[in-house]
Amino acid sequence: MAIITLITTIYLFYTGFSYYQTSLEERFYHPNHDWFKPSGAFGHGLGIVGTLMILFGVSIYIARKRYNFLSRFIRLKYLLEFHIFLCTLGPILVLFHTAFKFGGIVSIAFWSMVAVVLSGVIGRYIYIQIPHTIDGRMLSLNEVKNMKTDLVKILSEKHNLDNNTIELFVNYSEGEDSSNKKSSTHKLKKVLRDKNIPVEERKTILNMVKNERSLSGKIARLQNMQKLFKYWHVAHLPFALIMLIILIIHVAITLAFGYKWIF
Ligand code: HEM
Ligand code: HEM
Repeated sequence: MAIITLITTIYLFYTGFSYYQTSLEERFYHPNHDWFKPSGAFGHGLGIVGTLMILFGVSIYIARKRYNFLSRFIRLKYLLEFHIFLCTLGPILVLFHTAFKFGGIVSIAFWSMVAVVLSGVIGRYIYIQIPHTIDGRMLSLNEVKNMKTDLVKILSEKHNLDNNTIELFVNYSEGEDSSNKKSSTHKLKKVLRDKNIPVEERKTILNMVKNERSLSGKIARLQNMQKLFKYWHVAHLPFALIMLIILIIHVAITLAFGYKWIF
């Protein structure tokens, strides 16, 4: 899909290059002014098609995410890809609709659109850091926590370790041991060796606590990312709303001025 966006952008640049590079005062005399200007057949069309893409890309994602629309047929993560595709291509068409002339209050809609797109890129980055089910549903903290093993139980029942040793291992697995990781792994190895635990069993125990430690790290990161993602909506959503409101005014004004496009 990225390739479609790229080809379209190159085509739009190529086809209107001579018009877009003409200064605003001289455009009026350009032979294709009536075609490329924002109210021209081509320019106006780009505005309408681009806006429809954005509106469709947003509504279908919200319909699926919040109201389970078509949930049996399409996974949320594919719709997110689709949202990103339509909401990247749409703004590019709108950019060419403006013919790089950003005037009036509608320029606020334009810059809000730019803000939404940029925030989208950041949000996408945060989003992929958060574990999701294959369906694209975000895993809750508890679901991830449930992946943790019951270390205390396994270490005491299966490996017969005493309470002090278990505490040492649990601290390590929670990443609470502040000394650097290598030296504390050495310490654990030494404890197991001193207790004459067979090599294979030592390996099993060490691997298990290492896994737990990495899972603890993931949980901590997940908590941060989820918080960050919540704040991220505070940028993405309101800019989208500002854009929508000014867009409605913009369209109402153009209709009031009698711009009809090809119909
Ligand atoms: C997010 C969507 C849109 C943005 C950001 C946008 C932005 C702009 C900008 C910056 C201009 C140039 C203003 C100027 O001359 O200084 C413009 C002109 C225009 N737009 Fe849009 N537009 C959008 C959607 C639409 C839609 C959906 C329509 C039609 C239904 C439309 C119709 C027009 C018309 C007719 C003009 C020419 C107005 C004139 O020459 O006075 N636009 N638009
Ligand atoms: C004009 C363009 C765009 C508009 C108007 C727009 C609008 C929206 C809206 C209204 C939502 C729903 C938020 C919610 O459920 O609370 C959303 C979700 C999202 N958008 Fe966009 N978006 C645009 C472009 C983009 C782009 C370009 C990207 C990425 C590169 C992006 C990434 C996302 C992500 C990751 C979500 C998912 C949020 C979630 O599921 O919690 N958006 N967008």
